[in-house]
Amino acid sequence: MADELADLFQNNRHWAAQHIAQDPDFFTRLWQQQNPQYLWIGCSDSRVPANDIVGLAPGELFVHRNVGNMVYHTDFNCMSVLQYAIEILQVKHIIVTGHYGCGGVRAALQNRELGLIDNWLYDVRDIYDRNRSKLERLSEEERVDRLCEMNVVQQVANVCHTTIVQRAWHNGQQLSVHGCIYSVKDGILRDLGVRVTGAEQLAPVYRIEE
Ligand code: CO
Repeated sequence: MADELADLFQNNRHWAAQHIAQDPDFFTRLWQQQNPQYLWIGCSDSRVPANDIVGLAPGELFVHRNVGNMVYHTDFNCMSVLQYAIEILQVKHIIVTGHYGCGGVRAALQNRELGLIDNWLYDVRDIYDRNRSKLERLSEEERVDRLCEMNVVQQVANVCHTTIVQRAWHNGQQLSVHGCIYSVKDGILRDLGVRVTGAEQLAPVYRIEE
């Protein structure tokens, strides 16, 4: 029943009218082309709305979201987004954004079988296992949050290790990969201080030279 979505359609008409009131050419311009400078790779969590958090309008942020903001080289979806963003849209920045208290990261810490998601989140378990001695000292909440940060750092590395990103660097394209974490508690996005701008910052084994 369309009525079930009545609020959404009403919100949409209001939203479109507001944009047109402020800028009559807004949609005509967007229809012609998008020109985002940023690719956002974030979690699907409904509390982490990419554009809103960083105050960017439609057309300014290319977005890929999945549970746990994971980047797998075998994920055609993520890899296609990455390639399109870099090669066609020529984005200058890729921002991998995790968030504290992430349900995906928390799920990876449970030994209970949750289903397909257990396979999806296996990288998080690997990160936990590699950092077990550091993480086991923390309280449960801190452990999840620290693992959320570590996961972002790992996914930044996974982005950088792709042939797509390395080819862009090799071709002299200006491209930075950043890691950030968002707090649902206070609405603040924090830079984790990981910023990769070239293959020379990668461990030698990951470098793909042409
Ligand atoms: Co999440």
